[in-house]
Amino acid sequence: MKIAIPTESFPGESRVAASPDTVKAYVKKGLEVTVEAGAGAGSSISDDAFAAAGAKIVKNGFGDADIVLMVRRPSDWLAKSLKKGAILAAGLDPHGDRAGLEALAKTGATLFAMELMPRISRAQSMDILSSQANLAGYKAAIDAAAAFTRAFPMMMTAAGTVPPAKVFIMGVGVAGLQAIATARRLGAIVSATDVRKATEEQVKSLGAKFVFADVADAATSGGYAKELSAEDKAKQAALVAEHVKGQDIVITTALIPGRPAPTLISREMVETMKAGSVIVDLAVERGGNCPLSKPDETVVHRGVSIIGTVNLAGRLAGNASPLFARNLANFLDPMIAKDGTLKIDYDDEIIKGTLVARDGALVHPMFTGAK
Ligand code: NAI
Repeated sequence: MKIAIPTESFPGESRVAASPDTVKAYVKKGLEVTVEAGAGAGSSISDDAFAAAGAKIVKNGFGDADIVLMVRRPSDWLAKSLKKGAILAAGLDPHGDRAGLEALAKTGATLFAMELMPRISRAQSMDILSSQANLAGYKAAIDAAAAFTRAFPMMMTAAGTVPPAKVFIMGVGVAGLQAIATARRLGAIVSATDVRKATEEQVKSLGAKFVFADVADAATSGGYAKELSAEDKAKQAALVAEHVKGQDIVITTALIPGRPAPTLISREMVETMKAGSVIVDLAVERGGNCPLSKPDETVVHRGVSIIGTVNLAGRLAGNASPLFARNLANFLDPMIAKDGTLKIDYDDEIIKGTLVARDGALVHPMFTGAK
């Protein structure tokens, strides 16, 4: 069986869907691995490193691969070369560009969208959202510190005292928790908010203050948040507006699956912040938590810098790629039988949750409406 790892074609994507470690693991299972020349360059993984792990380095030509692994959707050109019945496992952006996904389904490939991984403990090691969000949260805090014209920690010097920076994290999922931990390590005074009540304890255990509007718990059984009612949105906005005024740094990470990111920091709230403050909007790719943020730009509004870097995890591709690759390898592992053949259990919760297309059509309940 052949497994292929192409170079990503999505603009600015630096990650790659395999690492030398995962290549070694596939080879050990009897698979033939091909990696496109230069695929690992953005993650500092050389062709030689992939070759030493047992991969064949090719210029192009994945047409006969049984399994194709990618970070994002393939280009049209690559999609056309997919073999009917081949497996494509990737971050397929299942909530975005439906027509593009339908076209991809029409190739007849079996498509798995890794973003739809069920949030069950067995699937934790396969969860790309989690592995990548962790790095993004760290990088958001680092980028905020770099853009801030003052220091994070308190410093007592003979010339006077430097006060600690006040950092506010909005959305305490995987990225938010890592942003809290990083900002704390840098010496800031950290506070955080979320609409899932379970986050209070996590925030406190990291030494940060929890700021919670009196809203109905918005946690879903799947571990995600749902959208707030209009009344709760107003309560949350009033609380945030008051709190944000005194903050130096705001890092927003709030997402709702399949919906645009909720607006948490309005233009008016930004205008109450001191000049020199910094906002990092991690939700920018999904519309942003701040209406002023722009993808891959730093907007300065009345002295407040609003950083909208898309794909923050990709800026740490040296870590992000091996983790993404390991998520994919853990996902594939149960599908590859001892004799090196493919055995997919279509009744398995993980397969059902991530399978978006098969035999030319979109089959996931989110498209078919089935329960
Ligand atoms: P996410 O990326 O979908 O959202 C980020 C955060 O934004 C969430 O905490 C969400 O509650 C919050 N949020 C949404 N709307 C908001 C609003 N209006 N105001 C403030 N905050 C808002 O979530 P993420 O990071 O993917 O994870 C959510 C949970 O799932 C976490 O508790 C995590 O531990 C859990 N998880 C479980 C896994 C498993 O069991 N396999 C794997 C990964 C995460």
